[in-house]
Amino acid sequence: MTLLKVLRYNPESDKEPRYDQHQVRAEKGLTVLEALLRIKDEVDSTLAIRYSCKSAICGSCAVTINDQNGLACQTQLSSLGRVVKVEPLAGYSILKDLVVDMRPFWDQMKRVLPYLITKEPHPERERLQTPEERKRIDEATWCIMCGACSSSCPVMWTDERYIGPAAFVKAWRFVADSRDEGANERLDRLNSEFGLWRCHTIFRCVDSCPKDINPTVAIENLRKALVRRSFRRRVALEAPSA
Ligand code: F3S
Repeated sequence: MTLLKVLRYNPESDKEPRYDQHQVRAEKGLTVLEALLRIKDEVDSTLAIRYSCKSAICGSCAVTINDQNGLACQTQLSSLGRVVKVEPLAGYSILKDLVVDMRPFWDQMKRVLPYLITKEPHPERERLQTPEERKRIDEATWCIMCGACSSSCPVMWTDERYIGPAAFVKAWRFVADSRDEGANERLDRLNSEFGLWRCHTIFRCVDSCPKDINPTVAIENLRKALVRRSFRRRVALEAPSA
């Protein structure tokens, strides 16, 4: 049996969070999400958890499991040992139990303009890419925006205005896209007090991504793009006019 300790907190009625404890049989194939849903169905229907696809695609069920961020639907209970602690994502305020207010996360996303920006008129058919061009953005497109990386970043805990690793990955996904023409605008936004230079390379975001994306690669690539851009601008300024 596994002892499942689940953080419970209703800010409208509780003074402090507490842990409810449940003994669960960690059968082969039982995920942390299924274990939580079993508790909700059979023991306490007031337990709040967010989930949707149960297939590691929607990103809704990101929580902290034994101090490590991940997806409840992707984590086998039997892989975790005899005592398992489940808590809501850190860095966001708790709405109830394991459900946090993700609005700061979505605000961070919006700041990097997370969509294709084009100035040319729409073509009649698709905007084509070569396989090499597509490969450049492959890893960044795996992001399911679960928030596990941003929630694990200590810089974000101190200031939610920090754009954060998930939004940096999203920014790189479009800056590096051969079809996009909005790189300058995005880089301007990232070159700010709460942007790329605020990252202290703490690397917690790398360990917490359930899709094996490395946000620090995106951060470094974006920093290089910024440096190259300012170098090009400087050269253009200093070039003797004809
Ligand atoms: Fe935070 Fe990751 Fe940078 S944890 S400080 S965004 S390397």
